[in-house]
Amino acid sequence: MEHHDKVVILDFGSQYTQLIARRVREAGVYSEIVPCTIPLDELKAHDPKAVILSGGPASVLEDDSPGVDDGVFALGVPVLGICYGMQIMAHHLCGRITQATDREYGRADLDVVDPGLLLDGLRTDEGHKVWMSHGDHVEAAPEGFKVLAKTGSLDVAAMSDPARKLYALQFHPEVAHTDDGEIILRNFLFKIAQVKPGWTMASFVDHTTAELREAVGDAGVVCGLSGGIDSTVVALLLHKAIGKQLTCIFVDNGLLRHQEREEVIGYLDEHFDLNLVVVDARERFLSKLTGVSDPEEKRRIIGYTFIDVFEEEANKLDGVKYLAQGTLYPDVIESVSFKGGPSAVIKSHHNVGGLPEKMNLDLVEPLRELFKDEVRKVAVELGLPDYIIWRHPFPGPGLAIRIIGEISPERLEVLRQSDRIVQQELRASGWYQKVWQGFAVLLPLKTVGVMGDDRTYESVVALRVVDSLDAMTADWTRLPPDLVARISNRIINEVRGVNRVVLDVSSKPPSTIEWE
Ligand code: XMP
Repeated sequence: MEHHDKVVILDFGSQYTQLIARRVREAGVYSEIVPCTIPLDELKAHDPKAVILSGGPASVLEDDSPGVDDGVFALGVPVLGICYGMQIMAHHLCGRITQATDREYGRADLDVVDPGLLLDGLRTDEGHKVWMSHGDHVEAAPEGFKVLAKTGSLDVAAMSDPARKLYALQFHPEVAHTDDGEIILRNFLFKIAQVKPGWTMASFVDHTTAELREAVGDAGVVCGLSGGIDSTVVALLLHKAIGKQLTCIFVDNGLLRHQEREEVIGYLDEHFDLNLVVVDARERFLSKLTGVSDPEEKRRIIGYTFIDVFEEEANKLDGVKYLAQGTLYPDVIESVSFKGGPSAVIKSHHNVGGLPEKMNLDLVEPLRELFKDEVRKVAVELGLPDYIIWRHPFPGPGLAIRIIGEISPERLEVLRQSDRIVQQELRASGWYQKVWQGFAVLLPLKTVGVMGDDRTYESVVALRVVDSLDAMTADWTRLPPDLVARISNRIINEVRGVNRVVLDVSSKPPSTIEWE
């Protein structure tokens, strides 16, 4: 897609590469990540206004370490090397690299000796902390380079050769632990590369709707609405672009949370003039799940039943050529594997079980350039209310993977009512927006309790609330004890069939967020 000025990030395999791209975008500049193995011609075809070389786990001194075309350093546009990116720059330009015995990991004090444009404006009155994560380091900068900063253990922590437009940092300006990292990146983008910021979500909506209109022509598009933010935004973007040529299909699989269908679908139906097909497939899903308790089997059944239902409904529509999906940028980025030398691998897209091929439809993926936080900004742009934008993630298999053991309408109702209380209390206490996810899980065991004068023998519900940035790792949220007590009391008093609530205090890893 065509944007204003673009910055290209060459990925050498750092865990922070995506973070660099996000920081650049937060500064209002469009950025893309490409593998470091990209041929020079292809890189030039991107027409980058600046190039950033990411960090990476390898050592430039090893034979099979990932390299880069020499031409990158003579592109004529500013290049910023970060960590491994700095080492590779120094290595190509005949600086001296020292191989480390130990990695330096964590905070270091930066001593700015000559800020130049790159380190201009850093607040140094109380020292300047930067985040290091490296093995090798540059012992002597290549000829023509000036040293901009040192640390106690590094003679070259930042360097530049303005004549050749080359800049480098041994530390990571993209991580939050580096003081003023944002200023350094902005210096590079705006003072050095003089990039013009043009990446806003309003401009994204404008150019994406125009492109969708052109790409789709007068064909029909079908889109599965799950109620999640991604599919909702996909639907609204397409609706804005092609109006009634879009048909949205919402499959009620009977595994949704309390009032979910009403909340999201009701809202869309009321506020947008969408072609919306709501399929009540509750019976169909539940009958197939009867007697099934294996988590993978549940997932499989729900997956293929969804495909069958969706396909049947889509086949009733005329003139459909495209299937719209909410694929995001992290699913698209080509990542680089260094095992046995660089090789580009593309992460598999989570498209719905091969549905596009099966139905012979082409894919439309209007969010494939966006990070999750940008999708939320687009949602704001499209006028969605906060309670939809900030809904917690909800797994495709729904409540089925939060009922441990067999699923029945009765057990679903117990979980749905328990979860309703969790959601209400999290929202009422202001904790809903602070946590990544919070929900109830119904356990497959009964315990003894006492209510009034009677002995009870009823189910146990677990409370699972976690903090996370991306669901890859998570920690259990330290909710105030009063809030936990209120949730527990309400569930036990209000939900028939539950006499005990337990709190899940496991992190991910080694546990997962969901219980199945
Ligand atoms: P886990 O349990 O793997 O979950 O730590 C990580 C995140 O993914 C969500 N999740 C799913 N989402 N289909 C989905 O669409 C699934 O089968 C699925 N399983 C887990 C989970 O809610 C959490 O946010």
